[in-house]
Formats: sequence, C-alpha cells, structure tokens
Amino acid sequence: SADVTTFDPGYVNTAIARSEITYIDGDNGILRYRGYPIEELAEKSSFVEVSYLLIYGELPTAEQLEAFDQRIRRHTLLHEDLRRFFSAFPYDAHPMPVLSSAVSALSTFYQDALDPFDEEQVELSSVRLLAKLPTIAAYANRKSQGLPTVFPDNSHGLVENFLRLNFGFPSEPYEIDETARKALDLLFILHADHEQNCSTSTVRLVGSSQANLFASVSAGIHALAGPLHGGANSAVLEMLQGIKDSGEGVQKFVERVKNKESGVRLMGFGHRVYKNYDPRATIIKKTADEVLGKMGKNDELLDIAHELEQIALSDDYFVSRKLYPNVDFYTGLIYQALGFPTKMFTVLFAIGRLPGWIAQWREMINDPETKIGRPRQIYTGAPERAYIPVEER
Ligand code: SDX
Repeated sequence: SADVTTFDPGYVNTAIARSEITYIDGDNGILRYRGYPIEELAEKSSFVEVSYLLIYGELPTAEQLEAFDQRIRRHTLLHEDLRRFFSAFPYDAHPMPVLSSAVSALSTFYQDALDPFDEEQVELSSVRLLAKLPTIAAYANRKSQGLPTVFPDNSHGLVENFLRLNFGFPSEPYEIDETARKALDLLFILHADHEQNCSTSTVRLVGSSQANLFASVSAGIHALAGPLHGGANSAVLEMLQGIKDSGEGVQKFVERVKNKESGVRLMGFGHRVYKNYDPRATIIKKTADEVLGKMGKNDELLDIAHELEQIALSDDYFVSRKLYPNVDFYTGLIYQALGFPTKMFTVLFAIGRLPGWIAQWREMINDPETKIGRPRQIYTGAPERAYIPVEER
C-alpha cells in the first residue's frame, strides 16, 4: 500500500492511544497505576481497591470502597443456564477457552446492559464481569477435576470467595488460609494492568468497532492464552519440571536455550518493554520465597528457578539481549503451592488483568480520538495477473 509510511510489525513503536491509566518505564523498571507506584500498591492496597483505582481513576474513600465491594459481592452468582454450560465441555477442556466462551456467552444472558454508550449499562456490565469471572474460573477448575461446584458465599470478599469456590466442599466448612489469601490478592494486584500489552490492545481493538464489553474481554482472554503472553506462567512450570525430570541440570538446559534448539526458550524471561528487571518479578520472587516457606513447600522447583535466574543473569547471552525475569517467572510456583493445577495459571492471570481490560475499554470507548482499529500493510504478493481457466492450468 503506497501511502504506508512506517513498517512496525507487532506495533512496538506505535502508540495506539493516549491513556491516563498505567505508566511503564521499561529501561528503569517503573510501573505505576494512575500514578501510584506498583511497590506501594502491592504493600498497602487490595485487589478490589486497585480495581476501583484503575476503573475510576482515584483511590476510593472508605464508603466508596465498601459500596463497590458490596456491588461486586451481589453479582457473583451465574445464571442457572450458564451454570449448565460447563457440562457441555469435555471434562478435561483447558479452562482458558471455557473462560472466553463463558464470558462471550454473558452477552446473551445480560442483554439489558450491552450499550457501550450508556454509563449505567457499562457500570453494570463492569461489576458483573468483576464478580462473575472468578466464579466462572472456579467452575471450570472444579469441572475439570470432576468436583462439585460450590455456590459463592457473599459474606466473603472476592479473593476469599474465589479460594472457597476452588478448594471448598459443600459437605464441610472451609477455613480461609490467610497466607494464600494475601498471596493471591497481591498477585492479582500485580497483574491488574500493563498498558498496551497484547491482550489489552486486543480488548481495545475489538471494542473500537463498538462491540460490547463482554465480547471485547472474551477476545482479550484468547490473546492472553498464548504462551508468549499469559500462557508463559504455565510454560515456566513445565520448563522447571522438565529440567527436574530430565536430570540434565540447569546449565545443560541453558546451553540448549543459547544454541536456540527448536522451540527452547527461557520461559518467564524477556519482555517487549522491560529491558531491565520487571518490577513485578522482584516483588513476586520475594513472595514465592515467603509463601513456599510458610506453606512448608520446600520446593525443588524453586531452587531450580533460583539457579536458572542466577546463571542467566551472569551469562552474556541473556544480559546482552536484556533478558530478565518477567512477571511470569515466579508466579506459577506460588499458584502451584496454593493448590491450583498448572492449566489454571493463565486463568488466574486473566482474573488479575480484568480490571485493567475494563478500565482500558472504558477509556477507549469514551475517547473522542478513538477510531475503529484498521492497521495497513505492505503488500508483497503477486503483481496483477489475468485469470487462467482450470483446463489450462
Ligand atoms: C507477558 O507486554 C506485556 O506487558 C506482557 C506482560 C503483561 O503484563 O501483559 O508483561 C505479560 O506476556 C510477559 C512475557 C511472558 N512471555 C514469556 O515469558 C515467553 C518467553 N519470552 C519471549 O518469548 C520474549 O522475551 C517476549 C515475547 C516476551 C519478548 O519478545 P521480544 O522483545 O520481541 O524479544 P525478541 O523475541 O525480539 O528476542 C530478542 C532476542 C532474540 O535473540 P536474537 O534473535 O537477537 O539472537 O532475545 C531472544 C530472541 O531469540 N529471546 C529469548 C527469549 N526472549 C527473547 N531467548 C531465550 N529465551 C527467551 N525467553
């Protein structure tokens, strides 16, 4: 296309929007949500409060936070027909396509609130998503294990309820493990937004056609599932387990990565933007040591992860390519210690990222500069040519 001026595969050098939500400085390892450093929010805030901050732009007063929390609690139940939806999938279905299908299906159950330009309907859809995604995720997890689903108990907050839905049983009381609750709340905060990453840009692009919030988030879930993006946290666990099972040792594995043996990558390392340490990885690494220690999971895989990190950070192959641990490198070890199966790890990433997707979609839909996303290309195909009848081919 003659009038294309720049070729920017993966849009790395293209700003697709002006945004007030999240600031990243990749060279200095800085991440801020609405101006607040991630380190402060990780230490002092909660996932529900950070969700409010990302969506509405300000930290809530105590009353605003309480009202927001109560609104979410009132919407945790799924429509009974949607509950039956889960038995339609094969029992061993991966939870990510189940999640995106169920989120897409929400637009069929809640047709009363799909207008992207009606503030009240957008508010209702946002709260429904925040409340129901954990329930959908837990039901997908329980179904894949042939376990009964437990109804949400709205006397619990979002994270406690999610833990109960995954690990509680209708036949006995469930004790919330405070270490688990705090660790999961922190991980959700750290995943809550990350400016124009692949899945968030997908949510914006789909929403730019004025598709509703459920459809846009469903598309974002699909993008997140890829192993180069949110799927990396599961791939890290598989990588660590593979090193352990092979008995080949960390150094040997690192050599295979450096020799670029087909498909072997150091999963959980490298980033499109952070060319220095991912600030989230620093916090998560500390949490992994604490949680695994506290939960008595003296984890051999954690030792392998530490050794892998040490070797990579002192090896010029990785240092020269500015490859450092990213958000996914240590998260899987914590999720595993909390009792989640590996294929649920990216689902947990999606629950954390949901408030960011919602905030970015709402900013996009209200942005007067938003146009329907329609990138151009550089055509490298055949020049004009005449049709050849099949008998002459
Ligand atoms: C997330 O964008 C976001 O913000 C995403 C995220 C978020 O919060 O939304 O932060 C979440 O997706 C984190 C990334 C999770 N993915 C992984 O951990 C998968 C492993 N990482 C890579 O595939 C890779 O690092 C990417 C995809 C993350 C980034 O790719 P880049 O910046 O395009 O780097 P590149 O592919 O151009 O690589 C540059 C060089 C190449 O070597 P050379 O061709 O120069 O010899 O570095 C090498 C690559 O081969 N390289 C790696 C590597 N990542 C890059 N080599 C080994 N292991 C790796 N992980």
